[in-house]
Amino acid sequence: MRSQAARSFLLLALLGCASAQKPGLRPPDVRYEPSPPEVVLAMLKLAGVTARDVVYDLGCGDGRIVITAAKEFGARGVGIDIDPARIAESEENARRAGVTKRVRFRNEDLFEADIREATVVTLYLWPWVNLKLRPKLLRELRPGTRVVSHCHDMGDWAPEHQIEVNGHKIYLWRIPERPQQAGP
Ligand SMILES: C[S@@+](CC[C@H](N)C(=O)[O-])C[C@H]1O[C@@H](n2cnc3c(N)ncnc32)[C@H](O)[C@@H]1O
Repeated sequence: MRSQAARSFLLLALLGCASAQKPGLRPPDVRYEPSPPEVVLAMLKLAGVTARDVVYDLGCGDGRIVITAAKEFGARGVGIDIDPARIAESEENARRAGVTKRVRFRNEDLFEADIREATVVTLYLWPWVNLKLRPKLLRELRPGTRVVSHCHDMGDWAPEHQIEVNGHKIYLWRIPERPQQAGP
């Protein structure tokens, strides 16, 4: 009788864990903290976002960066977040802002995500996450793609521009041309 109760308890505990996290996805590397609205606008202006851009926010939180890119600059946007609650919140916010045709949200690990379509990438992560992400950005993004980071730099990759808005640092880089491969 006691072992049957223990089995039921274990089953309920396992079901509880399964509903909290989508199978295959890890807990977030960075906890959620939204960029203030004036910082979001400054990031998009620093990147020179226009209606021709596709803005990817890696770790999109409540979706505010791609929603602002769509609403204020006419861009398309893709938000990626490992936390399914953030994706649900982003989708609801996009619906309320009337931009569902211009933005999409994907519940993925940013290190595994296909980001090749981006012309602008925005980040508000942690220093070690930026450094781990840097080789992927340089390998997968097209030359000329702009990368904007709120708060954290990219180590010895010097930014093209750096500004400060109400005490928040914002950095801009541009993906360089790849060196030509030597012939046979
Ligand atoms: C500091 S918040 C930034 C939110 C938003 N970009 C902004 O600036 O308002 C970082 C976000 O990254 C997400 N995140 C952390 N690790 C991640 C990972 N490996 N893949 C995708 N998203 C991740 C968190 O869930 C969180 O929503």
